Amino acid sequence: MTTLVTGGAGYIGSITTRLLRSTGRSVVVLDSLENGHAAAVGDTPLVVGNVANTDLVTQICRDNDIDEVVHFAAYKAVGESMENPGKYFDNNVTGSQKLIDAITACGVTRFVFSSTAAIYGTPDSVPVSEASAVRCESVYAETKLMIEHLLHWYGQTRNLRSVSLRYFNAAGASSDSTLGEDWRFSQNLMPHVMKAVLGASPALNVFGDDYPTPDGTGVRDYIHVEDLAASHVAALDYLSNGGQTLVCNVGTGHGTSVLEILQATERITGKPVPHVIQPRRAGDPSECYATTMLAAEKLGFVATRSLDDIISSAYAWHVAHPTGHSAN
Ligand code: UD1
Repeated sequence: MTTLVTGGAGYIGSITTRLLRSTGRSVVVLDSLENGHAAAVGDTPLVVGNVANTDLVTQICRDNDIDEVVHFAAYKAVGESMENPGKYFDNNVTGSQKLIDAITACGVTRFVFSSTAAIYGTPDSVPVSEASAVRCESVYAETKLMIEHLLHWYGQTRNLRSVSLRYFNAAGASSDSTLGEDWRFSQNLMPHVMKAVLGASPALNVFGDDYPTPDGTGVRDYIHVEDLAASHVAALDYLSNGGQTLVCNVGTGHGTSVLEILQATERITGKPVPHVIQPRRAGDPSECYATTMLAAEKLGFVATRSLDDIISSAYAWHVAHPTGHSAN
């Protein structure tokens, strides 16, 4: 049994690849290395190339007897997707469609896809369940929803069974500090907190303290990247056991505010997190956290790592990788 992992040289992809191998699977990574790092793949076979390259994907499937695919490869910068929508529709949607055409032509019937909670936009209420309204507020989110729809139809027409995992906020790093997020370009909260605590930036900008939340700052569902990786293994096992196409939240079910993250970071590191209250960031919902029942019931997946695990692993990763990525 060989698993093809696209985007396996990236943040979540590399940690999932390592976990998949620890379960005894043989894995081949396909990554363009535009944003990923070869060093993050270790000794897993790596093919450098694009998911839209039908000949290449076909060759990989034939050479390695691929029978399941985990598809991470995508652009993920929300702001950039609004400035350059064509880049996102082309790479994320058309690229995925070409990948799916190629793998189904080679007989692959099991597919796990990186979707996002961003498709819920500003939710009407929390926690957010899979039955909640989808309301994309960015091109990035729309591309992910379009792929979910595409997967539905390939299920109807090509016998492809898939699990779309709607990630909430991935954070943290591998427990041995060897794999993590390339934080040089990230706009997410945790890398900015770490930069502030380590003096790599003057201060954390806290975007808004007047939200209708207990302390006025934004609330999100932060899930440890190793828990997130485990949800992919659970999804592959579900499909191997005959599971049907599923769309599923992956979070912890708990909301944490920006100030709570900041305070926990100060407690864990013993250092102050310099911060400045700024106006709200455009497009940010006040509160977003998941219901986790479907993942528990269908995939047998429950996140087990704590917020302290997330923060301490992120801190160790940032200390060990002062220039941001896995190659050092
Ligand atoms: C963002 C993306 C989302 C993507 C997700 C994971 C937007 C609008 N949404 O979600 O599409 O799926 O990342 O990559 O970009 N915050 C600060 N200061 C900072 C950064 C963030 O106060 O410097 C606050 C935000 O206002 C928010 C929380 O921290 O309340 C989390 O922000 P972030 O990590 O960027 O994630 P999301 O906005 O939830």
